[in-house]
Amino acid sequence: MIIKKNLKNPIFCIVAMNENRVIGDGKNLLWYLPGDLKRLKKITMGSPLIMGRKTWDSIGKPLPGRANIVLTNSISLKADGAIVVNTFEDAINKADEWIGLNLEINPDPIQKKIFLFGGAEIYKIGLEYCDNIEMTKVKFNFKNGVKFPKLNERDWQKTKLEHHLATDNVPEHSYWHYKRVAKIIK
Ligand SMILES: NC(=O)c1ccc[n+]([C@@H]2O[C@H](COP(=O)([O-])OP(=O)(O)OC[C@H]3O[C@@H](n4cnc5c(N)ncnc54)[C@H](OP(=O)(O)O)[C@@H]3O)[C@@H](O)[C@H]2O)c1
Repeated sequence: MIIKKNLKNPIFCIVAMNENRVIGDGKNLLWYLPGDLKRLKKITMGSPLIMGRKTWDSIGKPLPGRANIVLTNSISLKADGAIVVNTFEDAINKADEWIGLNLEINPDPIQKKIFLFGGAEIYKIGLEYCDNIEMTKVKFNFKNGVKFPKLNERDWQKTKLEHHLATDNVPEHSYWHYKRVAKIIK
């Protein structure tokens, strides 16, 4: 478990990747998994999402029922329906604020968790703050693309939750929960 001062709400990572840790081509996802998108919606609803500007661009609109927090170096980015930040620390602060405020207004749908939503640059910055990963493993032959960071396998306890065989349009995929077992004191 990461023991990190000032982390008011835990940060969960959510990601879909292939066997080479590829998560996308740099602009978009490489696969279309309708079941996984439903799962992602269910898991993240009522939470803040921290995403990179390129992922924001690729989605093209805010995901409803969640705070869409976009990390960019730009000081003039306009992103309708999103909260724009320039540092990861500020992203966490805005996420905590959003949870606090919304818990007061309408607590029912709000989860006291933040999601690290990608892409690769944001996973690289934020993974060390996560003790949990909701991972979709996709059987999809593709080597060149943006990649999820390499995990130290011994640091994670892995539980397979569901397996889905390939159909005509959807590649084989499975859902996993990774729980950090290594103790990191920051
Ligand atoms: N399979 C999945 O689960 C999944 C999930 C999410 C995304 N994706 C895929 O991932 C790809 C995009 O990933 P990516 O790594 O290329 O881009 P990204 O992480 O989405 O965004 C990168 C951008 O974030 C901003 N940024 C990064 N670090 C920053 C920092 N320390 N401070 C301020 N701003 C910072 C910069 O924006 P500026 O250039 O504006 O400064 C940078 O260009 C797409 O293909 C997308 O489809 C896949």
